Amino acid sequence: MFKRISDVGPGSIEFEFEGQAVSAQVGDTVAAALLADGRIHFRDTPEKDRPRGPFCMMGVCFDCLVVIDGVPNRQACQVVAVPGMKVARQKGASAIGPDDGPIDAPTSGGAA
Ligand code: FES
Repeated sequence: MFKRISDVGPGSIEFEFEGQAVSAQVGDTVAAALLADGRIHFRDTPEKDRPRGPFCMMGVCFDCLVVIDGVPNRQACQVVAVPGMKVARQKGASAIGPDDGPIDAPTSGGAA
């Protein structure tokens, strides 16, 4: 679906997504690396578990939320991939802080 303009770069690294190895160019964001690897499903919506993936690639839409090294609510389009990081899909709503429980999903309306 997405193709790099050029594979010529300063080198490559590897990280993990859903337990599988993903290659990235040095300096890639997590979202750019996953899209270049053909992966478009980054999270599931809180209300209906519908798949979502990056839309804006500039930190506005929040459709790229993933769990990185156990920390939820990370915007994959704003985080540079580093070797060995473990990335997972975000399933539904996640806690905001360590003492918070899951966020209650809205009960009506919206496109969730
Ligand atoms: S793709 Fe929109 S916030 Fe990341």
